[in-house]
Amino acid sequence: MAEFHEISPNAPAGEKLLNWVDNRFPASKLFKEHMSEYYAPKNFNFWYVFGSLSLLVLVIQIVTGIFLVMHYKPDAALAFGSVEYIMRDVPWGWLIRYMHSTGASAFFVVVYLHMFRGLIYGSYRKPRELIWIFGCGIFLALMAEAFMGYLLPWGQMSYWGAQVIVNLFSAIPFIGPDLALLIRGDFVVGDATLNRFFSFHVIAVPLVLLGLVVAHIIALHEVGSNNPDGIEIKAKKDAQGRPLDGIPFHPYYSVHDIFAVSVFLMAFTAIVFFAPELGGYFLEYNNFIPADPFKTPLHIAPVWYFTPFYSMLRAVTSEMMYALIACVLGGAVLSVVKIKMPSILKGLILGVAVVVVAMMLAIDAKFWGVVAMGGGVVILFFLPWLDNSAVKSIRYRPDWHKYMYVIFVLDFLVLGYLGMLPPSDIGGRVSQAGTLFYFGFFLLMPWWSRIGTPKQVPDRVTFAAH
Ligand code: HEM
Repeated sequence: MAEFHEISPNAPAGEKLLNWVDNRFPASKLFKEHMSEYYAPKNFNFWYVFGSLSLLVLVIQIVTGIFLVMHYKPDAALAFGSVEYIMRDVPWGWLIRYMHSTGASAFFVVVYLHMFRGLIYGSYRKPRELIWIFGCGIFLALMAEAFMGYLLPWGQMSYWGAQVIVNLFSAIPFIGPDLALLIRGDFVVGDATLNRFFSFHVIAVPLVLLGLVVAHIIALHEVGSNNPDGIEIKAKKDAQGRPLDGIPFHPYYSVHDIFAVSVFLMAFTAIVFFAPELGGYFLEYNNFIPADPFKTPLHIAPVWYFTPFYSMLRAVTSEMMYALIACVLGGAVLSVVKIKMPSILKGLILGVAVVVVAMMLAIDAKFWGVVAMGGGVVILFFLPWLDNSAVKSIRYRPDWHKYMYVIFVLDFLVLGYLGMLPPSDIGGRVSQAGTLFYFGFFLLMPWWSRIGTPKQVPDRVTFAAH
């Protein structure tokens, strides 16, 4: 046990109280370690505000969620009406509900930007692999949370969206139909589904999410933040052991983040007050119609943040399977011819490729679509081991790498756009090309990230006082 720290009896009451607490709980110690003596690189730019903004949105979602649960009824016969009741009769209910629905989209906006920052500055690379992996876990949990939350208002889109996505699980060989039944708790989406989704949305997934966010930040504070130059500031320290290019998080970045919070809240409140549906992107119009199991809407589309992955699902048709088979065989042959390895390994690679191709021929394309949709997220977990470039930050990579990232972003946006539209011939072709590019970007990264001459990385971070 740490020694009791005595304080002058004449000290101000606040100091005495803090001392009393500090002798029993490491309040000041934690504040120092994580705020006033956490040294962050001095060259952070605006890309570094999205972590704090994600935290803010997390808090908004939890607080507004608590108030929504006070009035919401998780019952197929009452759910839609209870949401309307919240909107019309509960004092400020409309505000709470719109904050929660806008918060869901805002969460994905800030998290996508936050992930993109990690991508361009190589923040996932050694020693930050676990920060990234916890982040990918957060992203998965966030998708599950949003998907299950969307069923709760029990509108047409809630109902049919859940029906489509849960049915996908039945495409998994052997266990699929039973798995889909287990998720729904019934043969169709119904009251049992609503109850279990409610339970997961309100308690199970938020607990996982909170745990992962804590792990994410503990891992970050263990190794320290990366920065736009991708330089390790801990490599150069002063006599007191403080990084020369580091500044205390508090007050420098707490103020920086408060500014970002105020800009964010302007946009957030503008949407909440003036355009909560955001033209059908944040709240789909069909969801203002109560769920009707006998009337399938003409066009079922997920909310915008799922659509890039939904496009990948739709891209995998039986025709596309031939292109994928060609990719698997081509990849196996190329690696055997190009990479030096013992012949036993070559045989193994070719053998595995043949088994995979046989499976691809034997199992329905619908299943491989599900694999593509899930794989689009799962592949992110492996990023730390896919990137072989000599430098971390995009700033010092060969110029053409920047174009690769621009094309990647455009590709993701196009996939997202196409995922919102009804299926079409041309849209289908474009999303097939887009899906191939998305996976090619990651799977071929070990090769392409090494090509080209990186620029000279400076010794110290680049920083212009402002
Ligand atoms: C609820 C969601 C999330 C919260 C609250 C959150 C919070 C944070 C915070 C506060 C930071 C430090 C400030 C900053 O660097 O912006 C951070 C850093 C980081 N986050 Fe997240 N994060 C979330 C999701 C994610 C996701 C989905 C990923 C990636 C898949 C991710 C990857 C990272 C990385 C790599 C860093 C270190 C960045 C660097 O040092 O350059 N985070 N996160």
